[in-house]
Amino acid sequence: MGKKLFIHTYGCQMNVYDTARMADVMAVHGYGRAASPAEADLVILNTCHIREKAAEKIFSALGRLRELKHLRLAEGRNLVIGVAGCVAQAEGQELLRRAPFVDIVVGPQTYHRLPELVADASERGLKAVDTEFPAESKFDHLPEDSATQGPSAFLTIQEGCDKFCTFCVVPYTRGAEFSRPARDVIKEAQRLVACGAREITLLGQNVNAYHGAGSSGEVGLGQLIRHLADIDGLERIRYTTSHPRDVDDDLIAAHRDVPKLMPFLHLPAQSGSDRILAAMNRTYTTDEYRDVVTRLRAARPDLALSSDFIVGFPGETEAEFEETLHLAGEMGFAQAYSFKYSARPGTPAAAYDDQVQAQTVDERLARLRTLLDRLQCDFNERFIGRELYVLLDRQGRAPGQLIGRSPHMQSVYLRAPRESLGQIVRVRVMAAFANSLSGERTDRGDYGSPDRQWAVGTLHAIAPMGAD
Ligand code: SAH
Ligand code: SF4
Ligand code: F3S
Repeated sequence: MGKKLFIHTYGCQMNVYDTARMADVMAVHGYGRAASPAEADLVILNTCHIREKAAEKIFSALGRLRELKHLRLAEGRNLVIGVAGCVAQAEGQELLRRAPFVDIVVGPQTYHRLPELVADASERGLKAVDTEFPAESKFDHLPEDSATQGPSAFLTIQEGCDKFCTFCVVPYTRGAEFSRPARDVIKEAQRLVACGAREITLLGQNVNAYHGAGSSGEVGLGQLIRHLADIDGLERIRYTTSHPRDVDDDLIAAHRDVPKLMPFLHLPAQSGSDRILAAMNRTYTTDEYRDVVTRLRAARPDLALSSDFIVGFPGETEAEFEETLHLAGEMGFAQAYSFKYSARPGTPAAAYDDQVQAQTVDERLARLRTLLDRLQCDFNERFIGRELYVLLDRQGRAPGQLIGRSPHMQSVYLRAPRESLGQIVRVRVMAAFANSLSGERTDRGDYGSPDRQWAVGTLHAIAPMGAD
């Protein structure tokens, strides 16, 4: 009997990608996927350290795994427990002290070594902590073959961050910025498409800082997207997360020129106050942010924008918070995430002595969320009665229901047979909700590649921002 692996993923899309790759690494060594920890021989928590709450979740999940491990041991069997991802990187050895029943601690840059670590743990009962930032790239050691990720796949093209925003742990947990060579990215994209992907989201903590080696010099993100757009069968390209500072002219031109590049961009603003942005070390002003958005929208008028905001950064005054409300309203975000500032160990802002009172932060967050929810509803309502192309990528809860993504990243619910999963279908939007749309199919099948021009023409006619 082959062994089984269960991985629980927390945090960002890069962890989702890493989870898929860890499963690929272990598949080579005979590990299949388990449907739950109860069925697994190896359970890995792929963790996130971005905010205190995210990190705390891991310790409660570990408590439950300890119980499971005890039950197993009582039956004379073992359960190997691994902690991967950003908490593993940040805590290292300390994690074993706090949770001594954990067998393996492995960072985001060394999980290609999992098979040895797992063999040491399961065969020899050895514990291991591997949180190096090795000189060799894990990508050169991962298996070529990967299990299908389905119609919509993630592909990490860039890792790490050199920006050192004063609130953020990522430069410490993921290490220095690093771009994969363009050829490797293109090959992996071809393989994903051969396994059924029709949409690929390029990932990086700072994805638009991408500068991979190409056949004749460095390749930027705009150029990489053009190369990927040549892959037959790949219909949609997205990328996340971008930093406003690194949006260059070529990337903006790609939004104008590459129909497969979807009209949606996550471009975190973090704050609407120039003083706070400077204290965060974001390296742009609100006017620079506005200018980038204006240029992007000139290139792609139907571009929908999303953002991240931090509320209650140390020293944030009521007036500075109101500037954030103002910027959000002005930009008309199609969706946005908002977070309470969380002081993270080792980051400069955690040592600032003007931390904002918890009650004030709660109240500001509620006000910002009310505004962002309204903006999202306004955006979604514009689509009622319009037709959209939807990539059906998930089953809905109701029988006969499928869920897909619009070009603008909205979740769209509709009735369709299960065989339609993976198809791109034309849908008339019948109703809009806070977080989704519902609609009815107006075609009989996948639009396929030959109709792409027509489809894209239709997309351009939809909802230019601020037009209605
Ligand atoms: N690289 C991306 C963000 C990655 S982290 C960028 O530069 O925008 C994802 C989001 O988590 C950030 O955009 C930020 O809004 C939020 N975040 C990061 N650190 C945080 C902290 N200490 N407290 C609260 N939110 C935080
Ligand atoms: Fe964190 Fe800033 Fe880097 Fe984004 S750019 S990952 S917020 S340090
Ligand atoms: Fe979290 Fe690490 Fe991603 S801290 S957000 S899992 S890069």
